[in-house]
Amino acid sequence: MTIYKDPRSAPAWELLTQHADELAAVTLSELLAAADRFDNFSAEFEGLYVDFSRCRATARTLELLTELAGQLELEQHINDLFGGATVNVSENRAALHTSLRAQEEIPREVGAEQEHFLAFADAVRSGRHTGFGGAAIRRVVNIGIGGSDLGPRMLVAALGGQSGAGPDVEFVAGIDGTELSNALEGANPAATLFIVCSKTFSTLETRLNADSARAWLLQSLPADAVATNFAAVSANVDAPIEFGIAQDSCFRIWDWVGGRYSLWSAVGLAAAIRIGSEAFRELLAGGASMDRHFRTSEPGHNIPCLLALLGIWNRNFLGMEHHVVLPYDQRLEKLPAYLQQLFMESEGKAVRQDLAPVDYQTGAALWGGAGSSAQHSYAQWLHQGTAFAHTDFIATVNGADSSPPEAVLQSLANVLAQAEALAHGHSDAALPFKAHPGNRSSLVILLRELNPHNLGLLVALYEHVVFVQSMIWGINPFDQWGVELGKLGARQIAATLTAGEGAPGSDLPPLGKQILKWRGPA
Ligand code: F6P
Repeated sequence: MTIYKDPRSAPAWELLTQHADELAAVTLSELLAAADRFDNFSAEFEGLYVDFSRCRATARTLELLTELAGQLELEQHINDLFGGATVNVSENRAALHTSLRAQEEIPREVGAEQEHFLAFADAVRSGRHTGFGGAAIRRVVNIGIGGSDLGPRMLVAALGGQSGAGPDVEFVAGIDGTELSNALEGANPAATLFIVCSKTFSTLETRLNADSARAWLLQSLPADAVATNFAAVSANVDAPIEFGIAQDSCFRIWDWVGGRYSLWSAVGLAAAIRIGSEAFRELLAGGASMDRHFRTSEPGHNIPCLLALLGIWNRNFLGMEHHVVLPYDQRLEKLPAYLQQLFMESEGKAVRQDLAPVDYQTGAALWGGAGSSAQHSYAQWLHQGTAFAHTDFIATVNGADSSPPEAVLQSLANVLAQAEALAHGHSDAALPFKAHPGNRSSLVILLRELNPHNLGLLVALYEHVVFVQSMIWGINPFDQWGVELGKLGARQIAATLTAGEGAPGSDLPPLGKQILKWRGPA
């Protein structure tokens, strides 16, 4: 059984602190001047290339970070993860999302469920599974939130445009009904398939939207239509049946799959319907390849370990506050939001697994968006702002089929220009407002092309980065107790509020007045 320790008790921590002081005066420009810098600070695995030469680190930094990982028993933690140990201590569970993509080693029951949802996806695509009255499904609406939304939403945006795409897929997460009403605009009820995707099947936003979707369907179709036009993905196997969903359209996930690690499971159903089972299996295979690489490579050549440890270096020794992710392939526009939940729900912890409070930094704020737009929005802040942000640039060398070669070239030129400007800066003694301080950390991840396999590699890479960082910090990346208090509060407050019409012409409806005056339960 692995012990979770204060990472500062590891001898390498103190050495890294001293090393950071020694390196403080060394600039990235100086580091980048070494002829072999790129060779020594880059890695490649199956069409995924990582250039971390623009991180403020030396060979000695990597050596000390690797020692830190060894002293904190990273290898044992990795074995525990893959071996099904209770790594999620506060919920007394394993975290076996990697087994969902384990292919030939997939547990029998898990494999059977995978076949079930992928066969369903293909049946919807081919018209073998029809809506009410035999209508072919033309629109799929995934109703879910957090991990039951962000993963499939990101996959559909990234891969859904490839040839042979299935029905349109819409995503509904927000509680206020706007997304649902937009998703249903112009929809033919009989030809619309709703997927209620919720591990617990009790999440307020999802339940409200599912009830509204059912009411919408039954405005024009009889009650039987719930059985034909709804599917469900949940670990709570009875609740979808009670909702009226046909047993054969209910797909199971397991309590050992955390929401933000679940896109590999039936939570990916909406994406599988859009891209087809074959492409979905390629995604799984990409994830499995990264798992093998992570389990078997030495720390110095292990891409998830290297990136995770450089993140630790940035966060704990150089003071990074923001981790910014900028994809320069528009199809990856939703990746930052996906990674935001993955990192921030996993790493936003201040208590270790051994229950000791932490008094060192854990996860940074992660945010970002499509790189091109970022350049005309918050890139100013990245280049001249006062906070320490590290940026991950992500690009694809071949671009989308629809992208003209010139556009791909321009896109890649911008990635490089941004990374170089952040690293080297620019001095202008006469006009200080034009000066760029430089010395700002970034890395470039290049995919040869954006296909299901490579996306699987990329997502699994980031999952393992989160795992390694969490093990160094000794925190639990698989629970999220911090979301519970607000949920409870909303339930209690909602019970005290009364909706009502405002007096005609009044500036604020009564509900608004109740909100502004609310000072606690009566
Ligand atoms: O409230 C946070 C959270 O539990 C996430 O961890 C999860 O991905 C999301 O809500 C949705 O939960 P569910 O899939 O149970 O509806």
